[in-house]
Amino acid sequence: MTRIIDGNEVADGITAALEDSIEELKSAGVTPSLATVLMSDDGASETYVSMKQRTCEELGIDGIHHQLDASAPAEELFDVVDELNADPDVNGILVQMPVPDHVDNAAVLRRIEPMKDVDGFHPENVGRLVAGDPRFKPCTPHGVQKLLEAADVETEGAEAVVVGRSDIVGKPMANLLIQKAPGGNATTTVCHSRTKDLAEKTREADIVIAAAGYPELIDGSMIGEGAVVIDVGVNRVEADTEKGYKLVGDVDFESAKPVAGAITPVPGGVGPMTIAMLMYNTVKAASIQSG
Ligand code: GUN
Repeated sequence: MTRIIDGNEVADGITAALEDSIEELKSAGVTPSLATVLMSDDGASETYVSMKQRTCEELGIDGIHHQLDASAPAEELFDVVDELNADPDVNGILVQMPVPDHVDNAAVLRRIEPMKDVDGFHPENVGRLVAGDPRFKPCTPHGVQKLLEAADVETEGAEAVVVGRSDIVGKPMANLLIQKAPGGNATTTVCHSRTKDLAEKTREADIVIAAAGYPELIDGSMIGEGAVVIDVGVNRVEADTEKGYKLVGDVDFESAKPVAGAITPVPGGVGPMTIAMLMYNTVKAASIQSG
């Protein structure tokens, strides 16, 4: 029987465990706070940010949201980031990606104070992760690591294949998997759009992490018998539904499920974990900053 790994359940366990730390910080006079910044009118980005803010509210973390017009000058975004960097009541800053094309993405990430960079995307935090001394692990890959741990999947010595090389998921995921640390020590291959024979690579894997951003790229014929399949994809595809679309992962769930040993669904797999790990990083930021 294929195990369905329930991301909501694991995420709830993580946020429940954070409640004590939040209470402790509050009794010391510190209410953890997260500022989100959205410079986009993309519906999916709006949904992600509002889910992050809603979870803050549920946990008693102060949530502040800044909405910028997608056509606003880049300086407006930099000014908001500068203001949040300087505000002692703000512990974490998250600029929802992607930003519009006229804004230099790398410059935005460099602008965020590294101690408040709860995404872990600032070059200083990326460098610390690569060097094996992470401060803030990027939320989605960290969430995948926690899902694997909760599902008792041994990464040490496993053959892991990460499909996708994004700065947000693929690259940090591979870095976590090769760390000499729990949840690491995997022999890790990173595949991408120029990989010659993707199926040949994924079929050999004990753990497949699909983070390419292509709907149902990976089907059952590309999965080895008993492999653990983690689907990071969230793709909106046109469908005859009320909203006019449905969400599908990077994995064709129906064909992959009978072959896999364990698999995450979309929605309800990795998504809730990203938010839980963002809350974890926000509480960590508040602890670090309160000394
Ligand atoms: N866009 C998609 N995933 C993420 C994320 O984890 N953080 C930010 N800031 N933007 C994203």
